[in-house]
Amino acid sequence: MSEPGPKPVRIGLLGRGTVGAAFAELLAERAEAVEAATGRRPELAGVLTRSQGDFEQILAGSDVVVELMGGIDPAREHVTAALRAGKPVVTANKQLLAQHGDELFAIAREAGVQLRFEAAVAAVIPIVRTIQEGFGVTEIAKVFGIVNGTTNFILTEMAASGAGYADVLARAQELGYAEADPTDDVSGADAAAKMAILARLAFHTPVTLSEVSYEGIEAIQPDDLAYAKELGLSLKLLGVAERRDGGLSVRVFPCFLYSGHPLAPIEGPFNAVMVEAPAITEVTMSGPGAGGLQTASAVLGDVVSILAGDAPVHETRTELPIVADVSSSFYLHMEVADKPGVLAGVAAILAEHDVSVKSVVQRGHGEDARLVMVIHECLESRFAAALAALEQLDDLRSRPRSIRVIEEQF
Ligand SMILES: NC(=O)c1ccc[n+]([C@@H]2O[C@H](COP(=O)([O-])OP(=O)(O)OC[C@H]3O[C@@H](n4cnc5c(N)ncnc54)[C@H](OP(=O)(O)O)[C@@H]3O)[C@@H](O)[C@H]2O)c1
Repeated sequence: MSEPGPKPVRIGLLGRGTVGAAFAELLAERAEAVEAATGRRPELAGVLTRSQGDFEQILAGSDVVVELMGGIDPAREHVTAALRAGKPVVTANKQLLAQHGDELFAIAREAGVQLRFEAAVAAVIPIVRTIQEGFGVTEIAKVFGIVNGTTNFILTEMAASGAGYADVLARAQELGYAEADPTDDVSGADAAAKMAILARLAFHTPVTLSEVSYEGIEAIQPDDLAYAKELGLSLKLLGVAERRDGGLSVRVFPCFLYSGHPLAPIEGPFNAVMVEAPAITEVTMSGPGAGGLQTASAVLGDVVSILAGDAPVHETRTELPIVADVSSSFYLHMEVADKPGVLAGVAAILAEHDVSVKSVVQRGHGEDARLVMVIHECLESRFAAALAALEQLDDLRSRPRSIRVIEEQF
């Protein structure tokens, strides 16, 4: 008589929406491959949705819990209960980790079980694993990238078609790249949650969502993109977490990049993340940042890692202060009366604030003129003060608009 094989590993699935349904299918399809890789065959032990399943029963019958419900409650409660019951958890829930990561990692450590979350940042791009395992003891200087596919799709389409934000957003919604309520994506809040998670991992310091400053893309105008083309720039919504002035700066903002920058060619719904450190120079990874199957594939990868038994430690080692005022370059767009002395007035205000200009495009429009400039790197507070002074000029035709620029050439 042959020996019975190892018992199957029972997966409790919380949520069967876009990602949960794809995960259930992928699990069935790849069960043999998971068994070959880990020695244990996975099987679905139960599914919880709003209309199906009982959490306590699913928990009791599972070896691993996969949380794909989204939102804070009851996901937080269920993940806590699973960890306390000694069950490893995989989640794709960026909001939960960005707001309650410290608490959940502490519970996981106390219980001695794994909490994995590769899919919470940039879906299928293995950035979490790369930072915590590949670069686990590397002194990382900066992690940055395009971590929201919806906004990258909108900006790519606006640049290509010349259409306005509202029209392109409607098209993104039709194509399924933007949700019916796109606020979280277009305001930068979604990217901010992902940057809080990446910053915590890369710098081993506690960072929560409330410490990440963010701006979205709602105010971008088609002519900003048209002028940018002339200046050889492309616009991205960037998330940046970097060591600055003895602390840490974590921000999300729309930003122009010069062509040649590794993130400049990332278009449509794709994401890309770069890691910089003296010991590694720089590494860039790109791929789809969302999608049911793609996200489910990252979730299954986490299940395999749990079964393989390697456990990253989520202890923070430092308490880096958050640095609010950092230096940036800026694009500045002004519409002014086309008459003598106006340009000199603008130049005088910039000089008073010690803000210097790298390049200017000036166009006449009847009685008016448009000035589009790229400003050299300066403290953001200094640029904000110059902008406030420019807003007081008599000959302005509309409020000046500004967008950050990364000047670094590659
Ligand atoms: N979609 C993506 O491309 C993507 C990419 C990366 C990460 N994620 C993350 O993956 C997670 C799931 O996203 P999704 O797009 O699959 O969401 P979704 O389509 O809205 O599905 C959510 C699932 O959770 C269930 N659920 C929600 N609240 C519940 C509650 N209170 N009690 C019981 N069940 C509940 C829903 O039940 P019903 O079916 O009964 O409504 C549904 O089955 C989120 O954390 C999201 O941020 C998604």
